[in-house]
Amino acid sequence: MAVLRSVIRSVGAHLPKRVVTNDDLSKIVDTTDEWIRERSGILQRHIADENELTSDLGAAAAKQALIRAGIDPVEIDLVICATATPDRTFPATAVKIQNMLGVTKGAAFDVQAVCSGFVYALTVADNFLKAGQFKRALVIGAETFSRILDWSDRGTCVLFGDGAGAVVLEAQPQHGTREDRGILSTRIRSDGRFEDLLYVDGGPGSTKTVGHLRMNGREVFRHAVQKISGVIEETLVETGFAADEIDLFIPHQANKRILDGIAKKLNVPPEKIVMTLDKHGNTSAASIPLALNQAFEDHRVKEGSLVLMEAMGGGFTWGAVLARW
Ligand code: UT7
Repeated sequence: MAVLRSVIRSVGAHLPKRVVTNDDLSKIVDTTDEWIRERSGILQRHIADENELTSDLGAAAAKQALIRAGIDPVEIDLVICATATPDRTFPATAVKIQNMLGVTKGAAFDVQAVCSGFVYALTVADNFLKAGQFKRALVIGAETFSRILDWSDRGTCVLFGDGAGAVVLEAQPQHGTREDRGILSTRIRSDGRFEDLLYVDGGPGSTKTVGHLRMNGREVFRHAVQKISGVIEETLVETGFAADEIDLFIPHQANKRILDGIAKKLNVPPEKIVMTLDKHGNTSAASIPLALNQAFEDHRVKEGSLVLMEAMGGGFTWGAVLARW
């Protein structure tokens, strides 16, 4: 039976030029390269210049994805930007990016699910495309987390970085089988009981400030392995794929130890897990498309690859997307 699927036509990414190493950070907070490396797996992060905004990073990633897909921006009718660090409280960063790309038709809006933002945004776009409401979507994850970090808090400032990634999705008729290309399954979850474990202590409607990121790292860690493994298992059961049929796992890049824990729990060989957090730390909503882009550039993902993306973040929010490239 013919069905519409959201086929991933291409991926692109962009990182700010400025690299900040663990040793650089040890000059501003009481930390060491050894601690950051061992506890998180992060070696460096990219930090945006003052005049470089989330929209600039997102638009650069989107342009690369459009060029690689051979699609003119005017053919895009949906732009979704996953971000927790928008240029302005409003309008949405997606609208700014839409304008920067010269797209004037369709709709553009932001999705806010912090580190799960890209999984949420893919899910939203997939539903619009499958419903036939839009034909081609740009789904972007873009963040400038450096702007909301407390640079005196060693427990958080060493973990995050700035960056962006994007994919172009296109609604295409497929056969309705497990061999189909495109997004095969999406699952998104949230549980607001955990909002105080990872949050920003400001906002336009409360403090009238932007605020700084606060995290109970140990507790977030404890929930991450369990919640992410759970949603991956649900996705596999729903779609009937076995874990060893997945060609590549593209996880949200928060902590190497979390990724190792998930791999162990699900019995996934490490070589199937794309790990890029050593190069750019936790870039929140940008981390999955940045990892996907790396896998694409390394020829690890190619037509027919079965790819599982997953994330968990503030809220808590979490989720997974299974797609065939
Ligand atoms: O993307 C959203 C989801 N976020 C995450 O997934 C993050 C989840 N959490 C984590 O990745 C880890 O919990 C951290 C990397 C944040 C921390 O690792 P940990 O093994 O859980 O360390 P901890 O928080 O239990 O702290 C251990 C010690 C503490 O000292 P005491 O109390 O044992 O004396 C901290 O004060 O490490 C100390 N510490 C540091 N030491 C050197 C905390 N941050 C640092 C630091 N440098 N940067």
